[in-house]
Amino acid sequence: MARAARLRAPNRIKETKMASLQNNFQAYRASILHFTDDPAFNDRAYRWHEDGLLIVNEGKVHMAGDYATLSGLLPQGAQVHDYRGKLIVPGFIDTHVHYPQTDMIASPAPGLLPWLEKYTFPTERQFKDPVHAGRVASFFLDELTRCGTTTAMVYCTVHPESVEAFFTESEKRNLRMVAGKVLMDRNCPDFLQDTAESGVRESEELIKKWHKRGRQLYAITPRFAPTSTEAQLELAGQLAKAYPDTYLQTHVAENTDEVAWVKSLFPNARSYMDVYDHFGMLRPRSMYAHCIWLDDADRTRMSETQSAISICPTSNLFLGSGLFNFERADAAQVPLSLATDVGGGTSFSMLQTMNEAYKVARMGGTYLPALRMFYLATLGGARSMQLEGTIGNFVPGAEADFVVLDPKATPLLARRSERTDSLEELLFAIALLGDDRTVAATYAAGAPVHQR
Ligand code: GUN
Ligand code: FE
Repeated sequence: MARAARLRAPNRIKETKMASLQNNFQAYRASILHFTDDPAFNDRAYRWHEDGLLIVNEGKVHMAGDYATLSGLLPQGAQVHDYRGKLIVPGFIDTHVHYPQTDMIASPAPGLLPWLEKYTFPTERQFKDPVHAGRVASFFLDELTRCGTTTAMVYCTVHPESVEAFFTESEKRNLRMVAGKVLMDRNCPDFLQDTAESGVRESEELIKKWHKRGRQLYAITPRFAPTSTEAQLELAGQLAKAYPDTYLQTHVAENTDEVAWVKSLFPNARSYMDVYDHFGMLRPRSMYAHCIWLDDADRTRMSETQSAISICPTSNLFLGSGLFNFERADAAQVPLSLATDVGGGTSFSMLQTMNEAYKVARMGGTYLPALRMFYLATLGGARSMQLEGTIGNFVPGAEADFVVLDPKATPLLARRSERTDSLEELLFAIALLGDDRTVAATYAAGAPVHQR
């Protein structure tokens, strides 16, 4: 039965798609790159069409392939957007970022904890005001799409108003975004505190209103263990169990002072990660930012529970937090993704984030090929979020979120990319020299959301 269904399915998809292609489709001619697996573990993990065609039908990918093969599918006289000389890749996925910290990016402080005290908490206070929150959310989303990011896992503030404002702006742009209200009931200023009970009640109200409304998805968001009581973590874990298809996001093992603080607050836990494990917070669709100071037992637990890591290199270098260990994470086969962590991170650009990730890997004695960096910023994010098939690549039926990259965006990048001898070299040049200027256009569900 299952076997027969599998054999029949592709034909059925093809017939319905072909029928509707007559009216509402768009076609884009460019070089096309996307991934079907992690290139670190599979030599045939990517699809590269040097002269490619991407056909989009009603906001979804109809097909991606060679122009020579696919152009015959188009009706006579069909218009094709000509992006020859440019590169189409899936929209970037930033798996950890704080929209309320947009206005305090690049604020100087000697490390995480003083930075939170001096800049982060006072800045987040302003998000009780829905007008302010809406303005910042709008700028933030424009900045993400300008950089080619079409999906992000986003922290709002402790105020439900900040979540309303964010989803409202995201929905206007029809972006697939994941966001949630920060839970924080201790060790922070009064003006940012909820309670174990109010935090979970407000989160549940937001889940009911926003989770799976259009392209919006909800993430239960305890800030990190030091700012939640055991009672709050307990309730957050219960909420995650009651709504298993929601997301859960938090910070872990970012900084050695933070790790020591957690040890003093939770003396019975085996490790920092074990605190979250104890409260049932390791599960599919859970996203852990940083993961620098983990041990192998933590990594094994993450792998067993399909919990994902969000690697935040610009933030980790900026705050002096430490170097992410790619080798140990890969040995345990933990799902990996890349993130900016703005405002701890110093750029909204996932290309700049790749650049820094490459150097972090080198400092740890590992080598991160450009193909893998592009995987981590696209399908790696989608897989970590259990959204493969929906976003992250160009399989038929996926939502048509994509970016048009211009390898001639700056004089230096043009000069360097003309002298590359392989796809790997071209991608490497784009990752190391590229930024928002490299993004010629961004499309969300088939509609343009940014044009340079
Ligand atoms: N840990 C707890 N809160 C934060 C935050 O806002 N940014 C970063 N980078 N780490 C945190
Ligand atoms: Fe963060």
